[in-house]
Amino acid sequence: VDSFSPARACAFPSRGLAGTVTAPGDKSVSHRALILAALAEGESRIAGLLESADVLATARALRAFGVAAERDAPGCWRVQGGAWRSPAGPIDCGNSGTAARLLMGAAAGFPIEAVFDGDASLRHRPMRRAFAPLAAMGARFEGGDCLPLRLRGRSLRGISYQSPVASAQVKSAILLAGLRAEGPVEVTEPTPSRDHTEIMLRAMGAEVTTEGTIVRLGARRSLRAADLLVPGDPSSAAFPIVAALIVPGSDITITGVMVNTTRIGLFDTLREMGADLQLIDERMMGGERVADVRARFSQLQGVEVPGGRVAAMIDEYPILAVAAAFAQGTTRMSGLAELRHKESDRLAAILCGLQACGVPAEAGDDSLTVTGGMPEGGAVVATEGDHRIAMAFLVLGLAARKPVRVDRPEMIATSFPDFFPLMQHIGARLELTP
Ligand code: S3P
Repeated sequence: VDSFSPARACAFPSRGLAGTVTAPGDKSVSHRALILAALAEGESRIAGLLESADVLATARALRAFGVAAERDAPGCWRVQGGAWRSPAGPIDCGNSGTAARLLMGAAAGFPIEAVFDGDASLRHRPMRRAFAPLAAMGARFEGGDCLPLRLRGRSLRGISYQSPVASAQVKSAILLAGLRAEGPVEVTEPTPSRDHTEIMLRAMGAEVTTEGTIVRLGARRSLRAADLLVPGDPSSAAFPIVAALIVPGSDITITGVMVNTTRIGLFDTLREMGADLQLIDERMMGGERVADVRARFSQLQGVEVPGGRVAAMIDEYPILAVAAAFAQGTTRMSGLAELRHKESDRLAAILCGLQACGVPAEAGDDSLTVTGGMPEGGAVVATEGDHRIAMAFLVLGLAARKPVRVDRPEMIATSFPDFFPLMQHIGARLELTP
């Protein structure tokens, strides 16, 4: 991803979106499939892997740690797990917080040394939340709160960790380190975060128990190779879904969307706003529940979004704010402090984008209020290099009065490389411009 590319993308007011498309592979599950396979005995096969810039950063990192990870066909990979070795140079995690924090945890129990680094955005994101518990388990870290950081891995002891934030990245870092630790390992969160690591660890033979907000590793901690299937990403599906809800006359279906309850806070909220959203043919895929999601144009109403739902829709606030901009009345969102630590300060970026598009909005330290109507659009939105800000405001431009442009659209490839063709396939008028 060339973060200095001057290219922009433009979304033009579009007519009813229609058709059926398949959701791209889930980013969180894709990172985990590669990393867990790299820790397992034997050769794992992965199908449906999301080949986005973030996930490819994880694949490259694993190779640098001496793991054989081969791509056989689009989305189909083979990974030979085993002991990791010290990489020859710094591990570049690119734009990906998941890559940085999960790899630190996975590497911490090997007797190796590694420097973790990332792009300008990742270098500003807090890492102490992940490495403090790993250091308490016995790993050494040199550096400040941010990348670059040097890890000196070693034998680890167990931990009983009370996490101050509901973060699946922190929880997963501890669980992955815990696989190679002696003694009890447990993590308690303020509210449950996404549980894909736990599901996949169990599928690969480890003993993991969950009791409310407490997750524990049992005595059985070795992983065996497996065939892993990556379900569709609800966080990516959210963009075409909201596009269909706000462009009059739309009726689309996205197939194979993961509907794990720790990920579908947005769907619950959209339904409360009056969205015509149907989950069809719910079934299991790779240990996760999936469904086809049908979304039809709906007149949305403003709602109060409960703060307790934040973890289940943490990445969906940019696109929820866009849905709220087309709703009748006011939508209030609270408990958003974590949005300030994402690929950008998302709360600030959402507010600026909405205001640029003529949408009345106000933000507090950790809250956002959006008053809906018919957004004017006709703006260039600063994405701050954040893929989800770029996609959210392009969706806004499909239903606003005037076209919306965004800068740095190339960052969309970090999570959704096929965003443009998929959206164009259902009728969205999107263009890349110099
Ligand atoms: C992720 C967890 C979330 C989410 C991120 C992916 C994961 O971050 O925002 O996009 O794969 O575990 P936090 O765990 O830091 O909240």
